[in-house]
Amino acid sequence: MAKEVKERNWEPKIVAFVCNWCTYVGADAAGTSRMQYAPNVRIIRFPCTGRIDPLFIIRAFQQGVDGVIVSGCHPGDCHYVSGNLLARRRWIVFRKFMDFIGLDLRRLHFAWVSATEGAKWAKLVNEIVEEVRSAGPAPAWAFPTNGATVLETSLPEVGLPPSPPVEMTAQIREIAKRLLGTGEVGVVVGYEMATGAREGEATPTFVNKPEDADRLVFNERCVHNLAVYLTNPLVKKFGKVGIVAKGCDIRSIVGLIQENQIKREDVSIIGVVCNGVVVNGKLAEKCVNCQVKVPHLYDHLVGDPSWAQSPSGENPLDAQIADLESLSPEERWNFWMPQFARCIRCYACRAVCPLCYCQPCIAEKHRPQWIPTSPHPHGNLAWNIIRAWHLAGRCIGCGECARACPVNIRLDLLNRKLALEVERAFGYRPGFDPSAPTPLSTYRPDDKEDFIR
Ligand code: FES
Repeated sequence: MAKEVKERNWEPKIVAFVCNWCTYVGADAAGTSRMQYAPNVRIIRFPCTGRIDPLFIIRAFQQGVDGVIVSGCHPGDCHYVSGNLLARRRWIVFRKFMDFIGLDLRRLHFAWVSATEGAKWAKLVNEIVEEVRSAGPAPAWAFPTNGATVLETSLPEVGLPPSPPVEMTAQIREIAKRLLGTGEVGVVVGYEMATGAREGEATPTFVNKPEDADRLVFNERCVHNLAVYLTNPLVKKFGKVGIVAKGCDIRSIVGLIQENQIKREDVSIIGVVCNGVVVNGKLAEKCVNCQVKVPHLYDHLVGDPSWAQSPSGENPLDAQIADLESLSPEERWNFWMPQFARCIRCYACRAVCPLCYCQPCIAEKHRPQWIPTSPHPHGNLAWNIIRAWHLAGRCIGCGECARACPVNIRLDLLNRKLALEVERAFGYRPGFDPSAPTPLSTYRPDDKEDFIR
């Protein structure tokens, strides 16, 4: 009975993140002009929309609001010239991403409202309150509301890749010996065959003496993205680093150069021609339509480019993404919630990602604590969304996070969805041009959007 009374008396709770210079003044003008509008909105003021991190939106929903409005100066009017144009790029991708997670988009709104548009603000709030009302109370950010959704499309069965010619291993050893012998590099990061329980697998190894270079190997078991070690202080202390890198790994190295985490001259890339690696006894999904079987950036090339097969087919993840997109927001929500609920917050996904290098990570910031750290569905949801979001426009799809996840959360689908949206909106694919700006750190005045009111 108490629940029924509560539901009958339910009123949408909406938070508005607004810029100080335009929308806040516009909202103030609506008030001083005695315009009547719905009292459901609480305003939080920011210096600029460029300061409104999508994390704030996540946090608001996590704390129980039913809807969020983000609003600032019209393009061309930003007090800081381009804060709103940079924000617009983020909104374009973030909104699509939240839709993919299953957030009903009647709950998330973006607008340009100037200081003179008090009437627009009042009308906007009234409309949005009604939209949120039609969506009903927001679901708790915890568990499926109506049973877990299972994907109908399964990943295709693909065979094994061809084994790389054995001469490639000999070439890598010879290059490593030379680089270490002449002192050109202090260490070579590569692969060696594991022993003991993991016999038959290739594992990362670090060679800093020419006589140890014979440990190095290259074969279809060399799965790890070794670029993750390039930002490690224990590796950096050797000075210039030699690294054995497949084309996909080189895309990560390009990302690190773009983001000034390493200098091009501090790394000697031993690029290997690769026709794919084996994960779970079959060709890894990322290899199915790999475009970089022949390395696109290297100092030493290992292998014959003519051995590389042409890329074939579509990315197998795209069919599963289309499958999810065909569902209702509630069904998508009920797919993701059980995934996130099983996260144990081991941060293996972060540890293996070459582009997760922040010190400290947002998940470890405690003043304020943006993301609860215990493995509770609330914090798990925020962590998994923000981890993926921080890689938007940067993730090269090496799949290491999904491979490392001990509870099989479909992190690969999250990353791929973001990559698709960035490519659709800005025509950008990461990991190819070390001198290009990353897409969410720049803007075009004519960036297309049709959802900002
Ligand atoms: Fe208003 Fe930048 S100052 S959006």
